[in-house]
Amino acid sequence: MVEEVRLHPSDLIAPLFVQDGDGPPHPVESMPGVARLGLDDLVEEARALARLGIRGIALFPVTPARLKDPSGSEALNPDALVLRAVRRLRAEVPSLVLFTDIALDPYTTHGHDGVLDASGTDVDNDATVEVLARMAVLHARAGVDFVAPSDMMDGRVGAIREALDDAGHSHAGILAYSAKFASAFYGPFRDAVGSAQAAGTRALDKRTYQLNPANRREALADALLDEAEGADALMVKPAGPYLDVLHALRSQTRQPLAAYQVSGEYAQIHAAARLGWLALRPARDESLLAIKRAGADWILTYFAKEMARDLAADPTLSRPNIPFQE
Ligand code: PBG
Repeated sequence: MVEEVRLHPSDLIAPLFVQDGDGPPHPVESMPGVARLGLDDLVEEARALARLGIRGIALFPVTPARLKDPSGSEALNPDALVLRAVRRLRAEVPSLVLFTDIALDPYTTHGHDGVLDASGTDVDNDATVEVLARMAVLHARAGVDFVAPSDMMDGRVGAIREALDDAGHSHAGILAYSAKFASAFYGPFRDAVGSAQAAGTRALDKRTYQLNPANRREALADALLDEAEGADALMVKPAGPYLDVLHALRSQTRQPLAAYQVSGEYAQIHAAARLGWLALRPARDESLLAIKRAGADWILTYFAKEMARDLAADPTLSRPNIPFQE
């Protein structure tokens, strides 16, 4: 009775990895319980999530190496894997809210989120923004509800809004990855989508466009710029290490606020549980509850399905929260 916040399945957005072809699910080694899914399995999984009361899914394509190039041109292929996935989901599981990532890292040989400038090492902000705007229009045309620019280029939200409106997609929303930090916690995700292999390192240096973990004020300023440029919802990412940013942003915007509990946050809970050093479910529940308490309306988490399943059995999560009891 005295609990101030509770988790609900509709708070959760499930990130899903999509692979080409009709092969079996391909597990992500560093993310127990997570696999890349072919289109048939993806539709099945989406149905199962919808039945559990989850309202949103975020799609991340795994691009075959042969389709990658330095400019990420596959991002503008109207028949790209992620667009085929969106069309099928739109038709077969229409109740789900679909989010797709707008960034070039699944498509570039160097693994960066944009095209590089003449130096060959830095991302070219404005050239990238032009590509992202065209990419967003393709995604809206395929039927996605929200495009989610995760690239952190300056000015991309405004450019995407204008491109969407000009193309007749004024109803398509923008979830801006507004406060996305240059984080060590993205490693397992880069394994999953192959951006680390392409680049030859999991420690891809994105510090010229992602935020400095030391900077809360800069994060808030960036987020408010995204709002001013027309973002319909704002995101903080990673979630757990940046609850102060989430909390501060909650009091400065009236837009819905999302937090992304990223691959490394998921992996560390699983790794400790495997070693018998943490109890999986209580650690999971606490990590998600803390993100909601800090101010998130939506939580992107790889725990979404399991969490929704456990909430269906016990919406108050009142099972004894005693470590090592599993
Ligand atoms: C890239 C992108 C990343 C994630 C989502 N979109 C990784 C990166 O910036 O290299 C990470 C998500 C996760 O770690 O779960 N546009």
